[in-house]
Amino acid sequence: MDDSNLELSHFRSDKVRRLGVEKLIAWLHREQLVGTYSKVLDYGCGEFDVGQSIQNVVGRVDGFDIRKEAILRCRRRNSHSSSVFFDNEEDIPIKLYDLILLNGVVQYMESEQVFSDFLKKARSWISDDSNAMTILTCVIEENYSPVRDALSWLKEAFKKKAFVAMFFHVVIGGWYTIISKQNPTLVLSKEKVEKFANKANWHCTRLPEDLTYSNGERSTYVLTPVICNE
Ligand SMILES: C[S@@+](CC[C@H](N)C(=O)[O-])C[C@H]1O[C@@H](n2cnc3c(N)ncnc32)[C@H](O)[C@@H]1O
Repeated sequence: MDDSNLELSHFRSDKVRRLGVEKLIAWLHREQLVGTYSKVLDYGCGEFDVGQSIQNVVGRVDGFDIRKEAILRCRRRNSHSSSVFFDNEEDIPIKLYDLILLNGVVQYMESEQVFSDFLKKARSWISDDSNAMTILTCVIEENYSPVRDALSWLKEAFKKKAFVAMFFHVVIGGWYTIISKQNPTLVLSKEKVEKFANKANWHCTRLPEDLTYSNGERSTYVLTPVICNE
């Protein structure tokens, strides 16, 4: 991904950040998927919005991103916390995490191969606990319409009194995306996600709705490890 995407963060107010993670965080609490015992990896952490929102209620939350600049910023901003930030996948501990979260990351992966490779690697980072899982939000499907997507985010932002902030994020952020020649969006049908997940030894479930405000434009998947003696 082009480094100029870092500039996007200048157009994201705290209200926009909150909208980007609040449904996912509320769901994790409701389903009791995080607790003081949990070890979580925020994969593709960016500004660490997800990690920061659960930092106080989990045992450990680390971050990984392919952009070294993002990781440097995370390290600087979270120097007081015990979180560890990785910019090299080789450094991610094996079999440590109970939960791996990818919020709005899959769509930016360069290719299906990168996605498939990620699923295999994630299998080695997840703990042996039978409740361990990986959650993918914002997986873009074939019928995706960026206009419908933007409108549903703006509608939600209006309800939450964050319309102006979201408008700037969508319009200016969208413009930056175009000039920075960001990777084309990775589009993955349900069948493809299931196929790649099963190949990497994950059970795969698509939730009835995405854990963001994209309203039918994106999908959320829950992956749980296939245990060998099943
Ligand atoms: C839209 S941001 C989402 C950031 C964060 N997860 C959040 O919820 O705010 C997408 C992030 O995915 C990262 N990313 C893109 N491709 C990646 C890959 N192949 N592996 C890891 N991270 C990746 C980008 O660097 C960027 O920080």
